[in-house]
Amino acid sequence: MIIAIDGPAAAGKGTIALKLAKHYGLNHLDTGLLYRAIGRLMTEQGLDLDDAAQAGEVARKLTPKDLHHADLRGREAGELASRVAVHPEVRAALVDFQRDFARAEPGAVLDGRDIGTAICPEADVKIFVTASPEVRARRRTDELNAKGRDVPYERILAEILERDERDSHRSAAPLRQADDAVRLDTTALDAEAAFQAALAIVEAGHE
Ligand code: DC
Repeated sequence: MIIAIDGPAAAGKGTIALKLAKHYGLNHLDTGLLYRAIGRLMTEQGLDLDDAAQAGEVARKLTPKDLHHADLRGREAGELASRVAVHPEVRAALVDFQRDFARAEPGAVLDGRDIGTAICPEADVKIFVTASPEVRARRRTDELNAKGRDVPYERILAEILERDERDSHRSAAPLRQADDAVRLDTTALDAEAAFQAALAIVEAGHE
């Protein structure tokens, strides 16, 4: 079984994907980490994120080991990722790795922006997870505050809106709901309710 989870930043995709993978005993790949690692490697090597050819080269050389970089989960890496993710050369270099991961036994949950549309159009279940930008920004701000990081809500909201804009309007595999994806709006749901709703979608979708 392959489950594709797509949606904008901070909608709850990652938590849902992780819980579904655990529930069904499937592998899980957070595909955002691939783009985050490329953005990090490029800045460490002093390369220009807008240089498509160099970005493609870094992407082709990416190894699973690079995904264990200490600092990939934060906001800065997310911003770098969104910038390198616009290059078709980068996206092309990552296709086979993601497809091989998806097809390996016993099956997998992949979360990202283009899993249902480009990477695994044949996925058994596709869920498009969204929430209002305000709620997504509120959740991110609360998460950061809980870690003792005092970042203003307005700044997080602005970053989220900027990322949505870039991810949705790039020409290469933009963020878009697949025609056969089920939309799950988590605006009014907590993490557990969102997982239960996703579980119901999977159960209904692969009978
Ligand atoms: O899901 P995330 O926040 O870790 O993703 C970081 C960025 O990577 C996101 O803003 C756009 C890019 N990305 C992508 O283009 N395609 C994916 N499948 C996953 C992430």
